[in-house]
Amino acid sequence: MYSILVLHGPNLNLLGKREPGIYGSVTLEQINQKLDQEARSLQATVSVLQSNSEGVLIDEIHGALERHHGILINAGAYTHTSVALRDAIAAVNLPTVEVHLSNIYRRESFRHHSYIASVAIGQISGFGVDSYRLGLQALVNYLKQP
Ligand code: DQA
Repeated sequence: MYSILVLHGPNLNLLGKREPGIYGSVTLEQINQKLDQEARSLQATVSVLQSNSEGVLIDEIHGALERHHGILINAGAYTHTSVALRDAIAAVNLPTVEVHLSNIYRRESFRHHSYIASVAIGQISGFGVDSYRLGLQALVNYLKQP
């Protein structure tokens, strides 16, 4: 059984109401339910946290070292700004997959750079709620490799 920490960054608590033209009508609650279902079919478990605070996300990444096998993260806008979040992932050195609902490369140029990408196994961007599902699959498949 693989234990995965799922982290949702700032403003993702507003999904469903927030810029629906970009992020759709799906709520964070619905995304978490889907992840729970998907985890079950992959023989994995997910522990989910959303925070608008960089420090809380960093503390959670530090705590993951003893508790989880991998991290699935949508860092929201911190993706494009946070060296500290990137360093936390590098420090714990747990396999990490980066996901985004929207395709960050089709949007404003300030979203084209990710500080997370260079410390992640890979990134899935642009498939809405499916980005999370595909990201979880990819992470668990990676962990199952001998
Ligand atoms: C996002 C993309 C980011 O650029 C943005 O700041 C978000 C959401 C996404 O899931 O598409 O908050 O990470």
